Amino acid sequence: MTQALQPWWKTATGYQIYPRSFCDSNGDGIGDLQGIISKLDHLRDLGVGFVWLSPVYASPMRDNGYDISDYRDIAPEFGTLEDFDQLVAQAQDKGIRIVMDLVVNHCSSDHDWFLKACETRDCPEHAYFYWRDQSPETNGPPDDQRACFGGSAWTWVEAVGRYYYGHFGPGQPDLNWHNPALRHEVFDMMNWWLDKGIGGFRIDVIELIGKDLDTRIYAEGPDMHRFIQDMHQACFAGRDIMTVGESWSAKPDTALLYCGDSRHEVDMVFNFNHIDAAWDQDKGRFGPNLFDLPTHKRILASWQDALANDGWNSLYLSNHDLPRPVSHYGCEGPYRVRSAKMLAMTMHLMKGTPFIYQGEEIGMTNAHFTEIGQFRDIETLGQLKEQSARGVSQQEFIAGANTNGRDNGRTPVQWDGTKHAGFTTGQPWIDVNTNYVDINVEEDRSDPNGVFAFYQNLIALRGELDIITKGSFALIGGDDPNVFAYERALDDQRLLVFGNFTDKTVHFQMPETRTTQGKIVLSNLYRDALPSGDHVTLAPFEAFACLLE
Ligand code: NOJ
Repeated sequence: MTQALQPWWKTATGYQIYPRSFCDSNGDGIGDLQGIISKLDHLRDLGVGFVWLSPVYASPMRDNGYDISDYRDIAPEFGTLEDFDQLVAQAQDKGIRIVMDLVVNHCSSDHDWFLKACETRDCPEHAYFYWRDQSPETNGPPDDQRACFGGSAWTWVEAVGRYYYGHFGPGQPDLNWHNPALRHEVFDMMNWWLDKGIGGFRIDVIELIGKDLDTRIYAEGPDMHRFIQDMHQACFAGRDIMTVGESWSAKPDTALLYCGDSRHEVDMVFNFNHIDAAWDQDKGRFGPNLFDLPTHKRILASWQDALANDGWNSLYLSNHDLPRPVSHYGCEGPYRVRSAKMLAMTMHLMKGTPFIYQGEEIGMTNAHFTEIGQFRDIETLGQLKEQSARGVSQQEFIAGANTNGRDNGRTPVQWDGTKHAGFTTGQPWIDVNTNYVDINVEEDRSDPNGVFAFYQNLIALRGELDIITKGSFALIGGDDPNVFAYERALDDQRLLVFGNFTDKTVHFQMPETRTTQGKIVLSNLYRDALPSGDHVTLAPFEAFACLLE
């Protein structure tokens, strides 16, 4: 009853599709829209309410679609606009909405706007981008800002005698959000997609719109919130959609500025505080994995607290830019299945909307490439150049990329044990993980104790218990180095959640002696009761949730 009062995106579970690696229907080695359509039953069976579809727009694919050359067309390798309409309609029939990825901090250097902008200063499109003269001191770029994917962020265009700014690299020129005509073009395009009946947008690096290049404030710049509010008013207001902005800069104390109800901006943000806390300060994602459970818990809890009564959390461990959770936080070996379930349970039972990244629902693992030639990601290859110049050996680099690089999450979904894991009949654009014979959808789904079945139960539980979407959140034993435990509370109900993040049996000290037995509503082992007393003993990677009424 009460759930009906909540917007659909609070009770639903999301599923991210990285189309290039999901399912290939035509044997060109690249996943496509018809491939997705052919797998909609898999998503319906899982129970997800919406799909976040990584970019499928026309693109030269230097950054696999995060570099758009036509915002109103589909990349031919993915299909056509008719295929897209078919996807939206067929997904809807199965109760799944399609949320598009919106990449409007930058476009592709192949976009018509940019091609025109580079011909002359005297066209409207020139002002759609950020241009600066060369530095009078150095006769070079206006400043020394580096691009995320390597090299200078500034690129010279001879025909107009100026540099343009590309935060990620020269193939992704930043759009000038300060130009009203550009904003109008973008909003118009967004409404065009929304009118097709999509479920909303995941907005790429939203923290970068509104930058001030002269004072070198890139993220959360002075005009960012104003632009998001304009976007809301022009496109979101009055529509039954969901919006989630990607922000690497959002912190608990700025979160409500994006998603507080009265702000009229976005419904939630993807923050990265729990992700980059485990990154080396100098080497970033390519450095060693510095995961520390108490830090992780503290960060997640601070977001729960910040958005306890206003705004809303997104809950996730993985996406197409991140390593596979079992490899990163759990175990690839004997406890792979159990740790995949533990990670899912501890994440999904917090307050917020959970997102599953393709392949996570069967516990897929990192890629473990052995040669540089196997990597495809523009960031990884850019970093290779930069780090080689700094003397980092190829071996060391490959180890870093295998640990935390972006290709880990991009190997094709392993559907079955046949050649190329049933992903394609052709040559896959990136190598399939060699473990596909053992780890694949067919195998996992045939096991009632598989990862998929567990995710099904987890998602179903969300529909059954209001406390999961509505209850308050409090960490239990925040300093404990091994166990992630918390309590959710709603009216007279309590939901206790425990997850052992180690491959050892551990004893977790409870803050108070418990006498109530409660009911185990989910367990990744065969636990049937919460022990009374002052501590809980958990088997390696064990997780369970107990409802006390
Ligand atoms: C974030 C996206 O998730 C990533 O894949 C992309 O490379 C950058 N934004 C640039 O669009």
